[in-house]
Amino acid sequence: MNVRPNSPAARDIAHHLHPYTNWRKHEADGPLIINSGKGIYVQDDQGKEYIEGMAGLWCTSLGFGEERLVQAAAEQMRKLPYYHAFAHKSHNPGIDLAERLADMTPGDLNHVFFANSGSEANDTVVKFVWYFNNALGRPEKKKIISRIKGYHGVTVASASMTGLPNNHRDFDLPIANILHTECPHYYRFGQAGETEDAFATRMADALEAKILEEGPETVAAFIGEPVMGAGGVIVPPRTYWKKIQAVCRKYDILVIADEVICGFGRTGEMFGSQTFEIQPDIMVVAKQLSSAYLPISAVIISDKVYDALADNSAKIGTFGHGYTYSGHPVAAAVAVETLKIYEERDILSHVKAVAPLFQEGLRKFADHPHVGEVRGVGLVGAIELVADKSTKASFDPAGPVGVQLDKRAIANGVILRNIVDSLAFCPPLIITDKQIKELFDRFGKALDETEAWIKAEGLAV
Ligand SMILES: Cc1ncc(COP(=O)(O)O)c(C=O)c1O
Repeated sequence: MNVRPNSPAARDIAHHLHPYTNWRKHEADGPLIINSGKGIYVQDDQGKEYIEGMAGLWCTSLGFGEERLVQAAAEQMRKLPYYHAFAHKSHNPGIDLAERLADMTPGDLNHVFFANSGSEANDTVVKFVWYFNNALGRPEKKKIISRIKGYHGVTVASASMTGLPNNHRDFDLPIANILHTECPHYYRFGQAGETEDAFATRMADALEAKILEEGPETVAAFIGEPVMGAGGVIVPPRTYWKKIQAVCRKYDILVIADEVICGFGRTGEMFGSQTFEIQPDIMVVAKQLSSAYLPISAVIISDKVYDALADNSAKIGTFGHGYTYSGHPVAAAVAVETLKIYEERDILSHVKAVAPLFQEGLRKFADHPHVGEVRGVGLVGAIELVADKSTKASFDPAGPVGVQLDKRAIANGVILRNIVDSLAFCPPLIITDKQIKELFDRFGKALDETEAWIKAEGLAV
């Protein structure tokens, strides 16, 4: 990249440290600077337009430029730009949002604790779980089981629950008491002749074996995303969650649904927990909660969990946890407005109406010479590229082909996300039929160009 001195790109390279970026490569390549957005489209600083095929980071559900959210923020900023919820203080946006979430979420998830990101919310969950079992007089019941390829964020406890090597390597993670069980990816880990249901049974058996190996009296909770996102958009077999929950209930283990991506319509129901019939004891939401216009997340707990925590806070004299910005009134007001828009515009019906076209559009690429698997549900999906379709062999090394496809997609005006050699799709929920077609037209060109590149590089089997 030719970077002009003192240009925004040069200043970015000089001073701005980027998450999830190879910093030395960034010095050479520089940033893609996005300046504005409207609907499902964003524009870079050269005026080039892209379809935001990932809704940013799986989050801008209502797209860009939603004026009602701007208004909600401006009004709340004028009225009360900040207040907190420590020591019995409260404010109306926080009350309204907590009430709405309690109403929307399944079962007796009735009590809401706010944080600012998915990571903070999941760190909060770990502390809730530990506090819960201390409150019940079970100090040894502390282990939390997550999954290989699960993603729960990057703060110390959340990164520990995340089951991806780059979130642990050289960060001295995971911390104690966090364990990982099998990843429910049938295409990759299913055995020859095994049905999806038998695979799901094997996954649940593996969880049970781990619990028994550790001692059920030491295992406190199981956490999972209904559909794994950052691990590669992995949709579990339909019967997976039922079997996992049965194991958890058998050993008195809390079920935690991390709905940070799935929540608010992404999977075709309001929550991924409804799509996969999960009745969690604790649910975590963020991202689409505010259409990402402001940072806010929430941990929603059942009556049973609440009662234990409340009793313990009374015993100690306080619940010694909370963030300066827990339930920030401006973020909460934007979230309330987001949820109102979902309801008024019946976003869920819209997702149900366009999702079949989206899923069919993705599956049309299944015949491509190097597409190994196409997977997805609702308005989220992925295409996995392989070196050899018949053996499912991945490219060696894994990664460069995915990077190439991601680059070709950008050149063709669509922003996606490469997760090793899978390309993830997660467009704003407001995407229309016509725009879905446009998204796949642009992606199709990128895929054909990548195919030519694979041949030219001699990577084809
Ligand atoms: C399922 C899930 N949980 C937690 C997180 C972490 O959220 P944040 O990046 O807001 O900390 C993410 C982020 O992508 C996520 O996908």
